[in-house]
Amino acid sequence: MAMKAWVIEKHGGVDGLSLVEQPVPELSAGEVLVRVRAVSVNYRDLIALDAQRPGNLPPPLIPCSDGAGEIVAIGADVTRWKVGDRVAGTFFRDWVAGPFHQKYHQAAGGGSIHGWLREYVACPEQGVIGVPEGLSFDEAATLPCAGVTAWQALFTRGALRPGATVLALGTGGVSVFALQLAHAAGAKVIVTSSSDAKLARARELGAWETVNYRTTPDWDKEVWKITEKRGVDHVVEVGGPGTLGKSLNAVAAGGHIALIGVLTGFGPPDVSLFPLVARNARLDGIYVGSWADFQALNAFLTEHQIHPIIDRTFTFDQSRDAFSHMKGAGHFGKIVISIP
Ligand SMILES: NC(=O)c1ccc[n+]([C@@H]2O[C@H](COP(=O)([O-])OP(=O)(O)OC[C@H]3O[C@@H](n4cnc5c(N)ncnc54)[C@H](OP(=O)(O)O)[C@@H]3O)[C@@H](O)[C@H]2O)c1
Repeated sequence: MAMKAWVIEKHGGVDGLSLVEQPVPELSAGEVLVRVRAVSVNYRDLIALDAQRPGNLPPPLIPCSDGAGEIVAIGADVTRWKVGDRVAGTFFRDWVAGPFHQKYHQAAGGGSIHGWLREYVACPEQGVIGVPEGLSFDEAATLPCAGVTAWQALFTRGALRPGATVLALGTGGVSVFALQLAHAAGAKVIVTSSSDAKLARARELGAWETVNYRTTPDWDKEVWKITEKRGVDHVVEVGGPGTLGKSLNAVAAGGHIALIGVLTGFGPPDVSLFPLVARNARLDGIYVGSWADFQALNAFLTEHQIHPIIDRTFTFDQSRDAFSHMKGAGHFGKIVISIP
């Protein structure tokens, strides 16, 4: 049987994506076959489109780490799932629980193994997780990378407490999840954005304070003022080298910076790290999370009745437009490709 799949045929942006026909994957023992119903796009997928990244499969690579769908067949020895179960993929297929290990890099969807932008995916049974009741496939597809990353940053590694202050940079996928989760946990969230309209939406979602980083380039000073010269307990650092210096200025004594993103590039930061020392603060590298993190996130979403924020949904045929929409950075939250 044949299926449709998008592949990165050559690097250099969305024009390198092609829609091809491939055989539906055959099941091995211990694997499940998922009929994909929705995929979400992450900034990482744009990076994979643009150039060959270390550790990634060469073209033709099926992009996208994040997908959700229903199980349509199970291989021999599968014990956890049955046909009809609604599942989402995990970002690191083999990271079930416990600390990270370098070997988990060998199975990251849309990178070192093929991703979810296709009609069917076969994967080992530990590589999928149940979709919380009450979430649609579109919503579930937003969770594996951005949702789990925000969870690991704030809860698993950050041990967020009610009343803590959180600074979320920008209003992309990871940051809007951080806002929703931290607000639900009783934290006070400061959101930055280049857009006042997006900041208004952030306030509707519970942001305590907002700062436009375009009209207030010294946003670190503004955060300092807002927190009455205390700083924030947690920074969700998605910017990287171009924002880290200001994040260091904005962190409180004993605070935590979750270093997540590369929105300003992969280069070295031109900043002093001394604020970490002077404030007994912590800088933590975060790379998504485990199956156990995902499970804890799902339980929290159910408990607090949180629905992921989807900016826009595209059809499978419009997948190129979904990537272009993300590149335009006009979105708030997540971008989804729906496969009926
Ligand atoms: N380490 C990990 O596990 C992990 C996991 C997920 C993502 N990431 C990384 O985290 C970053 C965000 O990913 P994403 O998928 O959430 O991206 P996204 O949805 O594309 O987020 C884009 C948004 O980020 C904001 N932004 C861009 N440049 C900024 C800057 N200089 N300062 C503050 N905000 C800025 C903008 O928000 P406004 O429009 O509001 O200004 C922009 O719309 C990416 O670098 C991605 O590779 C890492």
